[in-house]
Amino acid sequence: MTAVKTESAPKPETGQPLLDVRNLHVTYGSGASSVPAVRGVDLRVEAGQKLGIAGESGCGKSTLALALLRLLPASATLSGEILLDGEDILTMKWGRLRAVRWAGASIVFQGAMHSLNAVHRIGDQIAEPILLHGRATPAAAHRRAGELLEQVGLPAARADAYPHELSGGQRQRVMIAMALACDPRLIIADEPTTALDVMIQAQILRLIEQLVSDQDLGLIMISHDLAVLSDTCDRLSVMYAGRVVEEGPAKQVYENARHPYGSALSAAFPRIGDLSSRHAPRGLPGDPPDPSALPSGCTFHPRCPAALDSCATEDQELRPAGPSRRAACVLVEPEATVTPGPHGGTEEARSTS
Ligand SMILES: Nc1ncnc2c1ncn2[C@@H]1O[C@H](COP(=O)(O)OP(=O)(O)O)[C@@H](O)[C@H]1O
Ligand SMILES: [Mg+2]
Repeated sequence: MTAVKTESAPKPETGQPLLDVRNLHVTYGSGASSVPAVRGVDLRVEAGQKLGIAGESGCGKSTLALALLRLLPASATLSGEILLDGEDILTMKWGRLRAVRWAGASIVFQGAMHSLNAVHRIGDQIAEPILLHGRATPAAAHRRAGELLEQVGLPAARADAYPHELSGGQRQRVMIAMALACDPRLIIADEPTTALDVMIQAQILRLIEQLVSDQDLGLIMISHDLAVLSDTCDRLSVMYAGRVVEEGPAKQVYENARHPYGSALSAAFPRIGDLSSRHAPRGLPGDPPDPSALPSGCTFHPRCPAALDSCATEDQELRPAGPSRRAACVLVEPEATVTPGPHGGTEEARSTS
């Protein structure tokens, strides 16, 4: 077993990323009814970096998020590596895993009303992980809960409120305060603003951005909305049918995707917070495939406007698609300098120099 670090271990000074996910697979169930929800995902997040994960409903984003802290149901089988500061979450003993949840990495879920306990005051709920980790006396934990509420823009006195006394945006702020309670190094936010109206959504996104940069945390922000992610994150990974099909600097992926799915997704979300696009993105007919019945070849080919005959039989791996970019599409030619783009028109130089 790797050396156990203290919970407040300083940021490593080596080139080791904060989070390094390698070839992660998650399958629900087994045998004929198995659902391969995540199929060989690689991700890296450095301290202070914000990674966005995009994709329509059903592409495996939440499964990936839950896998990162081994929060999946018992029916799920995982393989690969999830290295947090070099320590593999997948092989960690339970005691260590309990310490890492909250203090190493913590999750903000969508829909705070379901995650908060309706019968407990929010101050008690924020103090709970602090007490659970033996980090403070009850009085100090409650003081800290008040401070955390102020950090997320709520008065400390709101600690006495019950969840139903708060608005949706305020409850999501409480969830963020809880996620910060044990000073994690990484925050995983799964659709943290999807249930909120556009104005509140923007406020919460700014808040997350600011907290992450002030405290040099890593952030994984998950959303179906590429516009939200490109506005908030440094890098983007686009998931389709359980795989990353495109990755690169966030603005570049949003404005000039290399994979036809990335293009379709960015065209589907012309403005931030367009809830109407969620289940039927504009210009993208059909749905992602059922993971238990994936199409042959490239899994996107049945919906792809640029598909070639070979796409029905030939699976595509991620390949270089420009500096610091990769895409899993047969049309991507990293060496070409001027090439007709897969979405029509001519794309800029793609030399990897
Ligand atoms: N507990 C589960 N058991 C079986 N299948 C599941 C379970 N949770 C999710 N799935 C399936 O895994 C796939 C990915 O789901 P999910 O990770 O929730 O995607 P996303 O967050 O991108 O919408 C979907 O086909 C979904 O039906
Ligand atoms: Mg989800």
